[in-house]
Amino acid sequence: MGDRTDLIGTRLEAFRDELFDFLRIPSVSARSEHRDDTNRAGQWVVDQMARAGLEAELVGTEGHPIALGEWRGAGDDAPTLLIYGHYDVQPVEPLHLWTSPPFEPEVRDGRIYARGASDDKGQLFLHLKALEVLLETRGELPVNVVVLAEGEEEVGSPNLLPFVKAHRERLACDAVLISDSQMFAPGRPSLLFSLRGLSYLEIRIRSAASDLHSGSYGGAVPNPAQVLASIVGSLHDEQGRVAVPGFYDAVVEWDQETRDEIRSLPFDEEAFQAGVGARALGGEKGFSTLERLWIRPTCEVNGLLSGYTGEGAKTVLPAEAMAKVSCRLVPDQDPDEVARLLREHVGRVAPDTVEVEIRELHRGHPWRGRPDGPYFQAARAALRQAFGTDPVLTGEGGSIPIVSDFERVLGAPVILLGFALPGCNMHAPNEWFPAEHVELGIITLLDLYQRLGTGDPEDG
Ligand code: BES
Ligand code: ZN
Repeated sequence: MGDRTDLIGTRLEAFRDELFDFLRIPSVSARSEHRDDTNRAGQWVVDQMARAGLEAELVGTEGHPIALGEWRGAGDDAPTLLIYGHYDVQPVEPLHLWTSPPFEPEVRDGRIYARGASDDKGQLFLHLKALEVLLETRGELPVNVVVLAEGEEEVGSPNLLPFVKAHRERLACDAVLISDSQMFAPGRPSLLFSLRGLSYLEIRIRSAASDLHSGSYGGAVPNPAQVLASIVGSLHDEQGRVAVPGFYDAVVEWDQETRDEIRSLPFDEEAFQAGVGARALGGEKGFSTLERLWIRPTCEVNGLLSGYTGEGAKTVLPAEAMAKVSCRLVPDQDPDEVARLLREHVGRVAPDTVEVEIRELHRGHPWRGRPDGPYFQAARAALRQAFGTDPVLTGEGGSIPIVSDFERVLGAPVILLGFALPGCNMHAPNEWFPAEHVELGIITLLDLYQRLGTGDPEDG
């Protein structure tokens, strides 16, 4: 392929430098001290798109702006693709566990290490470069394109759905393409058939007006840490099932075909366990590890805080205890309904001797895709062409909150093809992206755009 040779011969090193510039911007959307940095990353995306030849602008929202790029020269007969990604990243703490600083990208052992390398700057970048290469080598694109990169995915996309609703004509498309996920294994690309949804709550239990001497007051004043522990303990039964009444009511059992497909994947349980460094794996009885991750809902404690946790002992009765609890959801669970069920449950378990406060932090609908249709088949063929092997169909335990909204509001199928690898440390210290996937990813996307333009998706 001519584009491939050009790419390898002349541009790859420059691409890497540009990606590193992007990765150097500390666009941590959760942190107010990084507000300017986050906006700067949005502007970086706009500048890239404009230089490539797209009409691009930074559109303000109540939070971080949306980088929007458009190219509509392919005409009415050609399909229109919406490419979605995010330029914001997760916080980097704990910093001391990073081998190299999170915003000083570095290549070691064929991996690009930096916060955002996989999630999602590195993957969004692949689309920007594929468009740039096509426009540069041909002066036009085979498809019409709208690129939407947001800066708030990692904080739950609070301003995106209103934007999508308000601009549904401008965002109208035949398919949505997203690269913000992982392949099944090295050398084994995958297309996603599911994402879990999310319902994330913060629970606070308060008792006395301040911390108290645990000898003078303990036993007579309710202990918020212990109340919280009993709430946390009540979230599951001995089978590892979520014990919140009503939690499973809306869960749609998966069809046997999908379960068989999951079972047929060459999943190495031991390697998975070794990879996370756990002494054992565990979860809901009656389901395999991949089923537990992809097609079953969960309820997990993400953080706990109470009392004295410093060096040595301090005999104190804490005034307050806090837990962050997130439920990952599967079709057709509704995040608001799950939040309501959890509220009710906590209300039942907590004694009325303490004050209970519950705040809802994030929400997102689960998504289940139909792995068929011309766009899906084109993605399959492009991955096969680039990686030399057929992609497998996989689920994903993580969430991309806007995906089901895209399908609902825009009426277009979403194709999730990710280029990160398992163990790439998204959200964790030492996040990395495989260096060779910069090239392979761009090659895949060049091929995909071309296939969609010819209207011959499976050819080749
Ligand atoms: N890129 C991830 C989603 C993901 C994670 C896909 C792992 C494939 C593998 C995305 O940026 C993400 O982290 N989403 C958050 C959403 C939340 C902040 C509302 C998540 O899943 O926790
Ligand atoms: Zn993420």
